[in-house]
Amino acid sequence: MPVIILAIESSCDDTSAAVIRDGQVLSNCVSTQEMHRLYGGVVPEVASRAHQVNIIPVVEATLDNAGVSKKDINAVAFTRGPGLLGSLLVGTSFAKAFALSYDIPLIEVNHMQAHVLAHFAEAPFPDFPFLCLTVSGGHTQIIRVDDHLEMTIIGETLDDAAGEAFDKAGKMLGLGYPAGAQIDKLAQTGIARFPFPEPAVPGLNFSFSGLKTAILYFLRDQMAQNPDFITTNLPDICASIQHTIVTILLKKLRKATRQTGIRTVALAGGVSANSGLRKALESYGAREGWETFVPRFEFCTDNAAMIGITGYYKYLRNEFCDQDAAPYARGFTS
Ligand code: KG4
Ligand code: ZN
Repeated sequence: MPVIILAIESSCDDTSAAVIRDGQVLSNCVSTQEMHRLYGGVVPEVASRAHQVNIIPVVEATLDNAGVSKKDINAVAFTRGPGLLGSLLVGTSFAKAFALSYDIPLIEVNHMQAHVLAHFAEAPFPDFPFLCLTVSGGHTQIIRVDDHLEMTIIGETLDDAAGEAFDKAGKMLGLGYPAGAQIDKLAQTGIARFPFPEPAVPGLNFSFSGLKTAILYFLRDQMAQNPDFITTNLPDICASIQHTIVTILLKKLRKATRQTGIRTVALAGGVSANSGLRKALESYGAREGWETFVPRFEFCTDNAAMIGITGYYKYLRNEFCDQDAAPYARGFTS
């Protein structure tokens, strides 16, 4: 009998549902809430209400795509945290109601662990142990992965996430939200000729708040001398910001590989779409003898397929949860 899991993700501003059969992704539907662009960031109350509107159509669409009917589902996996509580509540309540009505088990999934297990959505899969750099709008972590469900955070940001650094820099430059992809595009025709300081953070942790302040002061000083500074130098400014963020990430990753002796290196999260980061990973990797893995973009950004894959490995270990499992905003547990 195959194991068919319905997975639900609603931790931030994407409503997603997926169907996973025996660990393989049959379908993965995502409804992205575009309205947050208007506000320059995710508005929690708006996100929560949009999840309520989207969740049933998204689940129906993913079941249709997979060619699976509701009564074929063996378990429901859902993101319990971390994330926005109002958003998490929608997915959690839906998953509980579904499990209750079909009398099937419920599996709670940690969103950060799921980002790592997105590497098992499609072959080739990394061998254990590997290191995963998870970089998105909300997270920046280096995780040591010893098995599907055995992982340890060995480095993380002390303040802003890498994607947040891109987004905040974009705001200062007058770009829309989220700005990462636009900075990436502009950087491709620019030269990284403006030096920004790299933070001196001990160990494998990161900090991006100093960079944000450095960019703010740099732009303020330059604009005082030349009010057109941003418009006339935009590609070079973007290239410089991107170069600095990528260098910070890659240097810590190199430090992590040297400290752990692990040379299988994986990338996860929305920022892994960044062309500068991908190129740098390739060239550092070639120099350092790393085997590198980057999932398709669909599996890098928030998606329910990764929740379903994690749910599958938990199902195999009989790790189910009760109806009283409440969402949590912060934390990483396995
Ligand atoms: O994983 P994700 O879709 O959502 C979460 O934050 O969980 O990541 C979104 C982040 C945003 O900060 C966005 O600016 C960034 O990923 N991003 C990029 C690129 N594409 C998306 N950052 C740099 N370069 C890109 N090409
Ligand atoms: Zn995420």
